[in-house]
Amino acid sequence: MEDTNVYSSPEYEEFKRKLCRIIGLDLNSYKAQIHRRVHMLKDRWNVKTYDEYFNMISGDDKKLREFLDHLTINVSEFFRNDKQWWKLRDQIIPELMHKRGHKRLKLWSAGCATGEEPYSLAILSAVCGLDASVPVLACDIDQGALAIAQKGVYLKRQIINAPPEYLNRYFTTSDNGETYEVTPEIKRRVTFRRFNMIDDPFPSGFDLILCRNVVIYFTMDTKALLYQKFYNALASGGYLLVGSTEQIFEYKKLGFENAGPFLYTRK
Ligand SMILES: C[S@@+](CC[C@H](N)C(=O)[O-])C[C@H]1O[C@@H](n2cnc3c(N)ncnc32)[C@H](O)[C@@H]1O
Repeated sequence: MEDTNVYSSPEYEEFKRKLCRIIGLDLNSYKAQIHRRVHMLKDRWNVKTYDEYFNMISGDDKKLREFLDHLTINVSEFFRNDKQWWKLRDQIIPELMHKRGHKRLKLWSAGCATGEEPYSLAILSAVCGLDASVPVLACDIDQGALAIAQKGVYLKRQIINAPPEYLNRYFTTSDNGETYEVTPEIKRRVTFRRFNMIDDPFPSGFDLILCRNVVIYFTMDTKALLYQKFYNALASGGYLLVGSTEQIFEYKKLGFENAGPFLYTRK
């Protein structure tokens, strides 16, 4: 059972309001786990009041980064849960190209964190021969994560699932071999945009949307609202892929059909 009441106090409410005002992150839409992490960090930093906590975060970009990292809202990797990706490459994208009769598919990585997911999509779009003039849309609420994403430089542990032929073809390695940078060809295939999926109007007409490991942090009500918005954002015959712990139980009510594990389609 989600219990955020342990953290309810007028001071915490004010902290959340102020945080929302500066970075647009509304903690009220998130479940207990996130509130626990907010408070663990407050204890670790040995901060006594919420005012002091807020001033620390808002006055120092490094502290804000540390705060968001601690919520682990940004963890990602290339080709995370790789079987899903090979299904997109071998079945879903070719089928969509066939159905649409062209190569200009609209793909969206919603909650793209530091870029691993949209670049993985961009690599598949190159592999499948999609038209590069329609870039993958990559959105996240976190400006800092988007700045890292735009650089496109990663450590070995983040690319561990990438097949060697993709590493050779779509990445360059630094001289000391410690970092991997996605090639300009792949960078050009992605457009990054700041977007708050709770408040901002959704774009539409997508053939494939990935929203993975984002809604796990949201309350049930917020999740239901978001899935409806994702349904509306799909073109007919389009697909929504969710994270591998995020089965949508009420998918039929929303209008979806099941298209395999964690994959849903709008007929
Ligand atoms: C754990 S990462 C998931 C990254 C990637 N989708 C994956 O599965 O590897 C979750 C991302 O969701 C973003 N996020 C959280 N709340 C959001 C919101 N309201 N609107 C847009 N993005 C949000 C976070 O900033 C974070 O980058």
